[in-house]
Amino acid sequence: DYDAGPFLPSGGGLPALREAAAGCRGCPLHQDATRTVFGSGSTRARVMLVGEQPGDQEDRQGKPFVGPAGKLLDRALEEAGIDPAHAYVTNAVKHFKFEQAARGKRRIHKPPSLREISACRPWLAAELELVDPEVVVALGASAGKSLLGSSFRVTSQRGTVLPLPPLAGGPSGESLLVATIHPSAVLRGGDADRAARYAGLVADLKVAGELL
Ligand code: URA
Repeated sequence: DYDAGPFLPSGGGLPALREAAAGCRGCPLHQDATRTVFGSGSTRARVMLVGEQPGDQEDRQGKPFVGPAGKLLDRALEEAGIDPAHAYVTNAVKHFKFEQAARGKRRIHKPPSLREISACRPWLAAELELVDPEVVVALGASAGKSLLGSSFRVTSQRGTVLPLPPLAGGPSGESLLVATIHPSAVLRGGDADRAARYAGLVADLKVAGELL
């Protein structure tokens, strides 16, 4: 089955991990994406933010959360008292999955499957082991499923402090996890409830920020 495991290096720090991830062929998503978008930030970060997968801009620029969702996330983090510059930012899936109506047309984000999320989990587990953050924030359902299992539901589990379960190769410490909606979910959907969705995101991030 799909699995990034065989592509992981046997040692080294984040630079070795990032370099190996660039050549990952653990699932078919590498075929259409421009590049692997690995996590970004310091191994000393106390908080790790986990998104779903890179979007169009992230795929082009090679860094997580540099597009519209990232701008919104940075603003929400600052409002919640978390300095975005001191966070480690990554995704459950490291390649952009998209649908394209025709060549040259806009690339439309497609959610990753559970198989793809599971295949990519060894990279996330290795990042968690190296950074060993005090608090992990799962942004949306895909991150939640990767970290907590396939029965995770954002609506029922958001905004509460949960123990981070041990992932294979994950941290040995006692990290905590707070889940919330994905910042793209604030942008998508109607204008009507956008302010409420944004306020909900900030409120959940505050729960995480208060643990630091
Ligand atoms: N959405 C994500 O989940 N991750 C990114 O890096 C960008 C958008």
